[in-house]
Amino acid sequence: MLKTLKDFNLQNKRVLVRCDFNVPLDERGNILDDFRIKQTIPTIKYLIEKGAKLLLMSHLGRPGGRVVESLRLTLIQDKLMEYLDLSITKAADCIGPEVEKWSQEMNPGEILLLENLRFHKEEETNDDKFAKELAKMGDIYINDAFAVSHRTHASIVGVPEYLPSGAGFLLEKEIKVLSDLLKNPKKPMIAIIGGVKVETKAKVIDKISEIADWVLVSNVIQKEIEEKSISFKYPKKIIKPVDGIKKDGKILDIGPKTINLFLEKIVLAKTIFWSGPLGKIEKKEFQKGSLKIAKAIIKGKSFSLGGGGETVKFINKIGFREKFNHISTGGGAMLKFLSGDKLPGIEVLELQK
Ligand code: 3PG
Repeated sequence: MLKTLKDFNLQNKRVLVRCDFNVPLDERGNILDDFRIKQTIPTIKYLIEKGAKLLLMSHLGRPGGRVVESLRLTLIQDKLMEYLDLSITKAADCIGPEVEKWSQEMNPGEILLLENLRFHKEEETNDDKFAKELAKMGDIYINDAFAVSHRTHASIVGVPEYLPSGAGFLLEKEIKVLSDLLKNPKKPMIAIIGGVKVETKAKVIDKISEIADWVLVSNVIQKEIEEKSISFKYPKKIIKPVDGIKKDGKILDIGPKTINLFLEKIVLAKTIFWSGPLGKIEKKEFQKGSLKIAKAIIKGKSFSLGGGGETVKFINKIGFREKFNHISTGGGAMLKFLSGDKLPGIEVLELQK
């Protein structure tokens, strides 16, 4: 059974919280979007209120098992201090005698942010010794990192082998919203699948077509489906684009007829799931399709759910984040969950006694 924060006596306990502070950075290393940080604040605040000693851990980027100065968690520390209005100490590493000593000397309500987990290659190889080193610093382990729960990394599946473990509020919320979407969506339901790399989307298209009434796909996805001869269980539910905006021989956005076709479905829907932009939205000239679709989604009365890095960035940029009922913090993790696969980070918590 999945234990959650409220199942633990947290007073005076050292709580090791796995967060996903893997936020997008610009070329100067500034945070472009702090959505994932903000989403962990309720868990952190609750733990402070309950008198826990908090050790926060996360990865940032893909440093490949070595220290990369630009991927230190200093900016994350600043953001957390801003949102919590508290002072937070950041350790120079995530394991080792110094951090361990710190964890022993902390007072209730104090927060220690551990350095980027992926500076150690043992994180991604799920090294048992590394997991034990991390576990040594806590009395309880909380996973609030839905977005990385599809990875079999030490801080996700290794540490909970050694500590009483459960889910934080964010993980709990993501599981609930996405499970409800799969089990009990209000109908008609549509899924809009754009972006690139059909391999990462094919399974989710297939799974979601079991429950959705229509699955609307972008030109890029449609082209890849055809090129790779991918077949689906319910091909009739898949609504393909009928035109596109072309440049240099490439289709870079859905065209006006497709927009109309998609809008006809959107107005009927009671549940809408959207992952993946419908055009090359990095360029303003190819944002039109995605913008029209986003506007139609929030205008309707449907339950709206968005997810995936590019989609969320776009929804945020156009100021629609608060207008969606749920924006998932997950990219790959969300797609895996919606494909019907078990996420190892959730499975390990469910196996806890
Ligand atoms: C994400 O951004 O999707 C998660 O933080 C996982 O990151 P990863 O794809 O580098 O494992």
